[in-house]
Amino acid sequence: MPEAVWAIVVAAGSGERFGGPKQYESLGDGTVLDRSVAVARAVADKVIVVVPPGRARGSGDVEGGPTRSESVRRGLAALPDQAEIVVVHDGARPFASPELYRAVIDAVRAGADAAVPGVAVSDTIKVVDTAMTVVDTPDRATLVAVQTPQAFAADRLRAAHTGQPEGTDDASLVEAIGGRVVVVPGEPDNRKITVADDLQWARQRVAEER
Ligand code: CTP
Ligand code: MG
Repeated sequence: MPEAVWAIVVAAGSGERFGGPKQYESLGDGTVLDRSVAVARAVADKVIVVVPPGRARGSGDVEGGPTRSESVRRGLAALPDQAEIVVVHDGARPFASPELYRAVIDAVRAGADAAVPGVAVSDTIKVVDTAMTVVDTPDRATLVAVQTPQAFAADRLRAAHTGQPEGTDDASLVEAIGGRVVVVPGEPDNRKITVADDLQWARQRVAEER
């Protein structure tokens, strides 16, 4: 009997860079979030959707917090102890494929503490200080741009969130407690809706599916 897989779709952000809660923008027959949740439901045994305060619709919805990490914790608090594998996904990424979910889940089943999708970066990335002076240029071959869904051994994810740490993703919190995080090939189309251009691209992509 394979371990129970739960998904937490975080969608409680306010979309400052977009100019509003982008997860509720229309995309195809529903919203960006509807599409993200549909993929999670197709793969996970149960799905928790973390929404902005006042937006909860059904029993699987919980209200998020002021930061992404806090929103993930609110989702985690809603999981039963029996959850063994937890997948965390951004509600603002409507094009993650079921195969991508399966790849990260399988990597955790194979023994990793966490698994994340990563794609090679095409730009040279520089590390800068607060005055925008370059302090380092890491070798591009050692860099990947990381996406969600990110899969975790549930006990590791719970341990990583103990003490209310903050991070831009969950894998970084597992790294911080010494966990082994592996990278599987990400998907170029698994783009996060961040600014208006991203939504325009997403609508175009959906139009081309028809
Ligand atoms: N998120 C969340 N709770 C927060 C902040 C973010 O659940 N307090 C979710 C967002 O809804 C999104 C995902 O985390 O699905 C990735 O975050 P991001 O793209 O940064 O979305 P926002 O925080 O809404 O956008 P911005 O940073 O531009 O305000
Ligand atoms: Mg944000």
